[in-house]
Amino acid sequence: MPVTEPQVLDALRPIVDPDFQKSIVELGFVKNVAIEGGRVRFDIELTTPACPVKAEFEKAARERVLQLDDVTEVDVNMTAQTRGRPAAPEGELLPHVKHTIAVASGKGGVGKSTVSTNLALALHQMGGKVGLLDADVYGPSLPLLMGVSGRPETTEKRILPLEKYGLKLMSMGFFVDEGSPVIWRGPMVHGLITQFLRDVDWGELDYLVIDLPPGTGDAALTLTQSAPLSGAVIVTTANDLSLIDARKGLAMFEKVNVPVLGIVENMSYFTPPELPDKKYYLFGEGGGRRTAEEIGVDFLGELPIDPRVVEGGDIGKPILEFDPDCDVANRLRDVAGSVVRKLAVMASAPPVADANITWVGDPS
Ligand SMILES: Nc1ncnc2c1ncn2[C@@H]1O[C@H](COP(=O)(O)OP(=O)(O)OP(=O)(O)O)[C@@H](O)[C@H]1O
Ligand SMILES: [Mg+2]
Repeated sequence: MPVTEPQVLDALRPIVDPDFQKSIVELGFVKNVAIEGGRVRFDIELTTPACPVKAEFEKAARERVLQLDDVTEVDVNMTAQTRGRPAAPEGELLPHVKHTIAVASGKGGVGKSTVSTNLALALHQMGGKVGLLDADVYGPSLPLLMGVSGRPETTEKRILPLEKYGLKLMSMGFFVDEGSPVIWRGPMVHGLITQFLRDVDWGELDYLVIDLPPGTGDAALTLTQSAPLSGAVIVTTANDLSLIDARKGLAMFEKVNVPVLGIVENMSYFTPPELPDKKYYLFGEGGGRRTAEEIGVDFLGELPIDPRVVEGGDIGKPILEFDPDCDVANRLRDVAGSVVRKLAVMASAPPVADANITWVGDPS
């Protein structure tokens, strides 16, 4: 007698998603069960293409179903449907973007652009459709970091993003000449940023990563107030000054009810190539983790200082492209994994009192 669908589902029930702490069957991840004699096929649909336990799920599912009587062959198809915010109301910005992630810092030069470019790349490599917006209109660094140049094509109403390494890219740097100083006044900045959000043809994206300008000035404020942000990642270094600035960044997001997904501590330690087991903490150890605990947000990890980050940046290759297997690249992928898992859980949670959220500044 061929196996039945309820038997297949019962066999899969003990597999629990660690983020949701529920069975993948209860979560509705198992879809399209098809049984032909001894052959069983089904999909497991995850909430993010970047699920870190994808391979484990697949293996466990196959093994469990294979143990059933009369099953000779199991075909598991792993898919993903990124759960994003609910369908955007008419006229809202970025209606086809499921998650918008801001990368911020209270202070300049701590590695915000490095984290945003590599975060975007990691999400793409995990299987997501990803865009990267360099919202640092005063000091756009994306063209250099990604090795892209040229003017984006524009039609009457739309600006087409450039593409590199599988990412859709937009930066003020595509419109101004390299080396010329960019001087914008407050209202102009507001206009530019809204144009990037409203007029750029991002298409359908799972994730749009936004590299915010440092601090809490005009451009950062416009963005936090007008973009539908799913969450923010705060980058800091371990010294006291930038930790204080990280707290300011946090306060800015709290004011506009944007959840802070966590803090990344960059340039935490150095490991000399000849001493691969050593970690020299140049600014003291554990500052980022302590600040995160103190202010009640997640700590997403420490990134080492690695000269190859600079080297890669100089030739338009983010570290995930330049040396994808090094420590800093692995840690950046872990950060990306934590971020998408948090977003997936948040998007599946019952909606919080949305009424508390006021979008300051009319985006239209
Ligand atoms: N982990 C790292 N190891 C070594 N160098 C790094 C690391 N992270 C960033 N850098 C280097 O530090 C410099 C500043 O980094 P980045 O441009 O990412 O910072 P930022 O916060 O975006 O700066 P800005 O405020 O100017 O926009 C760059 O030259 C970058 O290559
Ligand atoms: Mg930058």
